[in-house]
Amino acid sequence: MIEVDKLSRTFRTYKKQPGFWGGVKGLFKREFEELAAAKDVSFSIKEGEFVGFLGPNGAGKTTTLKMLAGLIYPTSGSATVAGFNPTKRENAYRRIFALVLGQKNQLWWDLPAIESFLLLRHIYRIPAEQWQETLDELVDLLAVRGKLNVMVRELSLGERMKMELIAALLHRPKVLFLDEPTIGLDVVSQRAVRNFLRAYNKRHKVTILLTSHYMADIQELCERVIVIHKGQKIYDGDLDRLETGSAGTRQKIVTFLPENDSFTTEWKSAYGITTREDLGKIVVRAPSTQVVQVSQEILTQGPVADITIEDVPLEDVIADLFEKN
Ligand SMILES: Nc1ncnc2c1ncn2[C@@H]1O[C@H](COP(=O)(O)OP(=O)(O)OP(=O)(O)O)[C@@H](O)[C@H]1O
Ligand SMILES: [Mg+2]
Repeated sequence: MIEVDKLSRTFRTYKKQPGFWGGVKGLFKREFEELAAAKDVSFSIKEGEFVGFLGPNGAGKTTTLKMLAGLIYPTSGSATVAGFNPTKRENAYRRIFALVLGQKNQLWWDLPAIESFLLLRHIYRIPAEQWQETLDELVDLLAVRGKLNVMVRELSLGERMKMELIAALLHRPKVLFLDEPTIGLDVVSQRAVRNFLRAYNKRHKVTILLTSHYMADIQELCERVIVIHKGQKIYDGDLDRLETGSAGTRQKIVTFLPENDSFTTEWKSAYGITTREDLGKIVVRAPSTQVVQVSQEILTQGPVADITIEDVPLEDVIADLFEKN
């Protein structure tokens, strides 16, 4: 459904020297800085797949999604989505995909959502009956019927996001690019959006590429993730395998020290695991198979107030991956 082949995009930004004379100098000799927001990114996504697109701030996720939506042109490389070349910006392509930018408002601010939906019906030339049917389904799934006539600017962030999703789905796109659709939402709204996306993906077999900095979104919705860092793809595969890693599942041993007591600041276990002391506690990450031995080793070091063993959160796994790269 989505084929991306060595997609790259460089941004050229003008570097201004500080101060007045810097500005004057810039009039004669411009210095540019080139930044590769996406570098040779390739992947392919099958119909109906729900793929997580991860990367730290500035990794190039939004840039890539915008290229797939035809909003910006790639510097090199190519992409096809459902057989279309997004750069051609064909109307037929517009009818089969949707891009939701959580950071941006796409609805008309001074109109009630229902008016925007009516406008979209005309823009996409959706038959009235189909429009009504889709709208009813979405409104019920997202539980926003009571808010359809409220001015968009008066809606809460969560309600507005739900309306954005409805607006994006009214024309029944086959491919969805979701860029942080849960940003800033409280836990309850996040869960509502997540449940909606899961149900919608199952029911309509839409292909979804989702970016989010909330790992719960990714863990609950995506089996596969693509990770990019500084514009380059560094991982593409099962989320499970990413979490497990090559060293087997890792767990976190948190040792709380009694007050006024401390281990040596740098402690090295016999298993070669180095750790740092951190405000009255020691956090060690060990492969599951060694957790028991390492915990015992910690307990022999001195008095311990409490000890807990936790799974390493996905956030940490990913942060490690970024650091390694
Ligand atoms: N129009 C632009 N002009 C110049 N540089 C840009 C432009 N758009 C993006 N960039 C740069 O490209 C890089 C990638 O940006 P992008 O928005 O794709 O990151 P992102 O992965 O979506 O990050 P975030 O998680 O913060 O949303 C950044 O360093 C950004 O500053
Ligand atoms: Mg972004």
